[in-house]
Amino acid sequence: MTENKRIVLSSDHAGLDLRAAIAAHIAGLGWEVVDIGPTTTESTHYPRHGEAAARRVASGDCRFGIILCGTGQGIMMAANRVRGIRCGVCSDPFSARMIRQHNDANMLSLGVRVVGEGLALDVVDAFLGAEFEGGRHATRVDMLDEIAG
Ligand code: RB5
Repeated sequence: MTENKRIVLSSDHAGLDLRAAIAAHIAGLGWEVVDIGPTTTESTHYPRHGEAAARRVASGDCRFGIILCGTGQGIMMAANRVRGIRCGVCSDPFSARMIRQHNDANMLSLGVRVVGEGLALDVVDAFLGAEFEGGRHATRVDMLDEIAG
């Protein structure tokens, strides 16, 4: 089976410039970018974009998702409502690495008003460069899916 190298990107109106920078960066790393917008800075609603990106990951169409809003928080909350999604907001590379290694995160959320472009790209690199460790962490990740709504 070929490895899924697709990453879905989305944001609200706050995220267009940083989203474009991330798209160029990860494309340069060999990932296929699936940018689902929005394409203008007209005010929009982060729950819609967080859910749309999350569904691409939950369905298996994309391996990972990277989403952005002003703080990264609102769009992360939307993504985590979709079953099978594990999304964390990260403003530092250590956290980004750990959510892959320990939480098997499949989505990363960034706050456009929190991190600059250089730090954001370091966070993305840490996220994409880390692997889930499994073992005792797999037991805990499985427990997340057992939590009923
Ligand atoms: C939009 O102004 C802002 O609320 C949004 O980008 C995000 O920060 C929400 O969590």
